[in-house]
Amino acid sequence: DLVKALKEVVDSNRWQNIGAAEKFKTKKCTRLLSEDGEDMVIVFVAPDKFYAMDASCPHAGGPMNLGDIEDIGGHMSIICPWHGYSFRLDDGSSPTGLQQQMYTVKVLEGNIYVNTSSELLVPSSNTTENCEDSKEDISS
Ligand code: FES
Repeated sequence: DLVKALKEVVDSNRWQNIGAAEKFKTKKCTRLLSEDGEDMVIVFVAPDKFYAMDASCPHAGGPMNLGDIEDIGGHMSIICPWHGYSFRLDDGSSPTGLQQQMYTVKVLEGNIYVNTSSELLVPSSNTTENCEDSKEDISS
């Protein structure tokens, strides 16, 4: 019915405040856990870019939060640690043709908002699960 249809539209277009941007700037990426099991990774590229994507790789479910972040052909990309496929941070595309699920991020008054219908995203308590440093320091 119409109410249900409208609710779906609203739910699919919901901005969630996931916390202070400064906190997410201390790591190259942060894994977020959601109640419905749709984990997400927030990637930070200095000085001020944030990206959000599914925590699992669209190839075979590899942990993107353990991926390396590098400039590949002029596009900042994350490299899945399992088979080395890369995905562009700006649109989730990959030279393999696979597509990673990305989410829109905006920073408002110092807080990061992610457009997602997932419930209750909270930072993972496992702080060792973070993106590895790339060989080149991307923050300089
Ligand atoms: Fe990510 Fe294979 S699972 S490249």
